[in-house]
Formats: sequence, structure tokens, C-alpha cells
Amino acid sequence: MKEWGTFDTISKGKGIWLIDSKGNKIIDAVGSMWCNVWGHSNPELVKAITNQSKKIQHSSMFNLTNEPVEKLAKNLIRISPGMNKVFYSDNGSSAMEIAIKIALQYWKNIGESKKTQIATIENGYHGDTFGAMSVGYVPEFFGKFKKQLFSTIQFPVPNKYRIPKGLTLTDYQNDCLEKMEKRFSKDNNIAAFIMESGAQMAGGVIIYPKDFQRKISKLCKKHGILFVLDEIATGFGRLGSMVQYKEQKSIPDIVAYGKMLTGGYLTMAATLSSKKIYDSFSGEFNQWKHLFHGHTYTGNPIAASVANQNILMYEKYDLIKKIQKTSKIFSQYYDDISAIDIVGDIRHKGMLMGIELVSDRKKKIPIKTKKSINKVFFEEGKKNGIYLRTLGNIVMLVPPLSIEENELESLLKKTIKTIQAAKSHII
Ligand SMILES: Cc1ncc(COP(=O)(O)O)c(C=O)c1O
Repeated sequence: MKEWGTFDTISKGKGIWLIDSKGNKIIDAVGSMWCNVWGHSNPELVKAITNQSKKIQHSSMFNLTNEPVEKLAKNLIRISPGMNKVFYSDNGSSAMEIAIKIALQYWKNIGESKKTQIATIENGYHGDTFGAMSVGYVPEFFGKFKKQLFSTIQFPVPNKYRIPKGLTLTDYQNDCLEKMEKRFSKDNNIAAFIMESGAQMAGGVIIYPKDFQRKISKLCKKHGILFVLDEIATGFGRLGSMVQYKEQKSIPDIVAYGKMLTGGYLTMAATLSSKKIYDSFSGEFNQWKHLFHGHTYTGNPIAASVANQNILMYEKYDLIKKIQKTSKIFSQYYDDISAIDIVGDIRHKGMLMGIELVSDRKKKIPIKTKKSINKVFFEEGKKNGIYLRTLGNIVMLVPPLSIEENELESLLKKTIKTIQAAKSHII
């Protein structure tokens, strides 16, 4: 942490640009932690915030509701096949804590008290609170708390870049699925299977091979295990479809959204469940079937208003189609990026690119240095006019979803320059 003496102060934002207090402009290549949709200071989103802030700024959802959250629930249910009810929170980690609690309590509510275990995938990430850390264990982030985390059953994920010798990707995927099937057939105490939808983000940008997620959802159904998806970072267009589980043909029992839900303007997340799950919570008062969970800012009406406006704009501007077209620009730069000798792998889907840096291409050894690679890229990125972050040895490109083609070209050119400049500092 010592490497960060002082921080630059961001004073303004306009479109894809962040502007600091000295007037320097940098492209927001991380979409302000993967949540920005329409760029900064979008007038339609700002208007939704100001309009709602004149009516009611916050009103508790304990015993009450408000108009924007009611409308948002309808919007979310409309876009999410199989989902029936919405539980609000104010950040993604909380949305996942809620998903875990709903999944565990569901079985208690229906009288199946043995179902208490959670199954997950290695290297998943679902947030930084204790429940979320337990189900999404990334060793580098959470190792220091290992003893305090609850145990989960973890299965391997087929990483296309590191296929074991002698196997094809299909063999590798089948191996992972067979391990699940074996365990699911043996254990009848697994309450839920929790995974990121479409790809693992913070755990290393692992984009699942075709059918991996669909087959897991089928296994869960076959073995009576709730299937819980985290679309916080991968839904709402990041991977090129509004609802990633639709593309993956894997309808969950519970799904969580966050980050891009409000266009990246205010803090709000949502955990959705099917009717079957919801119904198990609606007994008589003295049956104690309800979910004891609520945060002060649950269902904040200003956040819900901007989320409604955001969803309206996805439809009005056909954003998903635009993302699918703009995303092709990334692939035009694959050759230039992989020509840099420290680049081991490029992983790209929709508006996400992870560039893995290695010290030995043949052996695929991740670059490791005493210095923070993130800090080196941040400084070199700034010199080239971009705000860049790395996750360990992976350079992340997660720009605002509505970025224009020429802007993305400029970002990619600047990224290439930055990797070239950073190279001498990290090898
Ligand atoms: C897949 C996923 N789930 C959950 C979270 C946690 O969200 P938040 O940072 O809003 O708590 C994140 C954050 O990066 C994430 O990537």
C-alpha cells in the first residue's frame, strides 16, 4: 500500500472521460469499477436523479414501499425469465449475502433441514463480505481470513488457457462436470450451487466454454440443488447480452444484479428469485418463514429511478445491439496486442477484455514482481491518457458499455502503448 502516496482527485466526468482537479483527462477504461453504462454526466440519467430527489429522497422499505422500486421490480422481472420477486440491497456483496441466505432458508422453510452446504467454482468472486468471500474464494484476496470463512464444496473451472496436457477443452470441461455429477449423486446435503454467470471476472477473466453453465444448471435440477447466478458484473450487457443466463440457456432459481443496474450512477443491487422460492417464505407470521434481512438504504427511490431510466435507455437506444457491434473492434486488435512478447493470452467477450501477462509464453508463467503491477499500469496508463487497472497479472479493459467505436479504437491503441511502456518496469 505504501506505493500509493497520494491519490489524484477526480472532479468531473464527461462521457468516457474522467477529469481530475488539475484538469487532466483520462479515459475510464475500467468503467468506474465495471459499472458505467452511458459514460459520465449523462443528462437523461442526471435528470432522473434530480427529478426523483425533489419528491422523496429515501423512505424505508420496512412496512412501506415506493413508486420507483415497484416500477423497477416490474422491469427486472420483465427482463429476467423465470424470476418472480425482487429483494433490494445497496451493493453487490449484500445482494449475494441475500442470495445465500434465501437459498439456505428455502430448504429450512420447506422442512429439508439437511440441505446446508454450498457448492461453488474455484476462483469465483462474489464480493468482500464474509458470506460472499466464503462462496467466492480467491486465495490472493481472502487467504488471510480463510479460518473465519464457512466451508464450501469447490469444483474446478475449465480455463481455456491452461488446459491440462493431453486433454482437449471438451475433455477438460467434461472432467469438471463429472466431478460435480459424482459429488451431487453422493451428497444429499447441498443446498445451492453458486457461480458467476457467463464468466469469472475478478478470479482471472475465465470465460466459460460453451455449454458449461447450461450443463451445471441441468445437473442442479437433476439433483435437487438450487442454482444461483451472480450477474452483478456480467449481466446488463457486459458480456454482450442483457441477461447472460438467457444466452447460456440456464434459468436459475435465484439471480443477483448490481453494478450496471443504475448505469453506474448510484449504489443499488437486487436479488431475484423464482415463485417457488418466494412462496416458501410466505407462511403465517408465527411460522417464522420470512427472511430477516434489510439494510437502511434498501430500495432507495433515487437509485431505483435512475435504474428505471437506465433500463428504458437500453431499450430506447438498442444498447445490446450496439455493444455487439462495437465489441468487434476488440478483435481487430488481437494481433497487435499478442505481438507484445509479455502477452500470454487475450480473453474477450462483449465489453470485457482481459490481457494476461506472462514471463514465459511457452510455460505460461504469470508475471510476478515485487512491485505492484497495478501501480505500474496506472502510472503508465495515465501518461497515455487512460485510467487502467490490473488484477494481478491481468490487464482489465471494462469500458463504459456505450463507448463509441472510435473511442474504443483509441483506448486499445493507448493500452498497447501502455503495455509496451510498462514492460521495462515489470520484467
Ligand atoms: C461478480 C461479482 N459479484 C459481486 C461483486 C460485489 O459487488 P460490490 O462491489 O458492489 O459489493 C462483484 C464486484 O466486483 C463482482 O464482480
